Amino acid sequence: MIDPRTASATIDTDALRHNIDAIAHHVAPAQVMAVVKADGYGHGAVTCARVAREAGAPWLGIATIGEALVLREAGDTGPILSWLHGPEEDYEPAVADGIDVTAGTVDQLSSALMAAAACEKTARVQLELDSGMRRAGSDPAEWDHLCRAALECEQTGAVKITGIWSHLATADEPDHPATQKQADAFADAVAHARSVGLEPEIVHLANSAAALGHPELHHDAVRLGIAMYGIDPGDGCATRAGVELLPAMRLRAQLAAVRHVNEGDGVSYGHSWIAPHDTTLGLVPLGYADGILRAASGRVKVRVGNRTVPIVGRVCMDQFMIDLGPDAPDAVGDEVTLFGAVDGPRAEDWAEGCDTIGYEIVSRIGGRVPRVLEDGDE
Ligand SMILES: Cc1ncc(COP(=O)(O)O)c(C=O)c1O
Repeated sequence: MIDPRTASATIDTDALRHNIDAIAHHVAPAQVMAVVKADGYGHGAVTCARVAREAGAPWLGIATIGEALVLREAGDTGPILSWLHGPEEDYEPAVADGIDVTAGTVDQLSSALMAAAACEKTARVQLELDSGMRRAGSDPAEWDHLCRAALECEQTGAVKITGIWSHLATADEPDHPATQKQADAFADAVAHARSVGLEPEIVHLANSAAALGHPELHHDAVRLGIAMYGIDPGDGCATRAGVELLPAMRLRAQLAAVRHVNEGDGVSYGHSWIAPHDTTLGLVPLGYADGILRAASGRVKVRVGNRTVPIVGRVCMDQFMIDLGPDAPDAVGDEVTLFGAVDGPRAEDWAEGCDTIGYEIVSRIGGRVPRVLEDGDE
């Protein structure tokens, strides 16, 4: 673990609350399912789950059963949906703890049934349709079979079908025709499931982008991920929806060293950057092992005081260099903000510079970077 004075990711729980409130207001009467998988997109799943519940989120969404169990161990007792299960996985701990599992195949339904028998509890199962993402869930051609098998399981009392859901592939692109096709396939599948006799408590399709930009797709709940963390799911989705998002993670460090280099000096591995003039370099004690992408070199700026300055030379495993400029006033110990400051740079700027998405920038921040909670009330 890095000393929190040296570097940390500060997590602004007020910003999390603000984002959840703003979107809950935007999507009401649909409910919010706060998605806290991958350690809350790097922000800390337990913290984010707690804040989401305090902000009134009735549901939590998470990828794996193991992740869901961590939330239960931390004291969460509310509805949680998990959706990514391997073929040999034991669903029993989830069923025993009242965690909803997902079935997109009859085999997954059988795993839930076996778990229910093993712990003598009704398994809470949500059926997933592949409405067009082609990633997971039931093929529409198999849907009737899955629904009928689910109904049979329900009639034994071992399983309760609590929900029906699907995932969108292109909701961040406002006019992409695939979204409407997925929406139609989903609506047909839900109607079919009801006609077969299933009575799901919740039906949900929307991710952050659809929560913000597709009110017609909100159904009973929206699965709110990236926007909860204050990152726009696409180019201007939040602005178009009139929702202000505040970054919840600020990645910061202290300058660990400051050194003068001469014009022509090669810097870092491979000497891929040669100082074009005499200048001052700052050493930032975070590297690619902490999630700082190597692609950031020369393409991303960080904040030092009231300036933004470029990353230069190759990003190393634990550290990287920034060009503070000639006659720089900066000293060892001065604060560097990599992203998440209100006045920038933001995770979105890193994403643009590194040719990726804000999701990857925040969720990759590694385990040795301390998460430090910042909250006016705590
Ligand atoms: C199944 C599912 N639902 C919802 C989400 C949340 O998506 P977003 O972060 O775009 O809101 C994800 C995240 O990728 C997901 O995999």
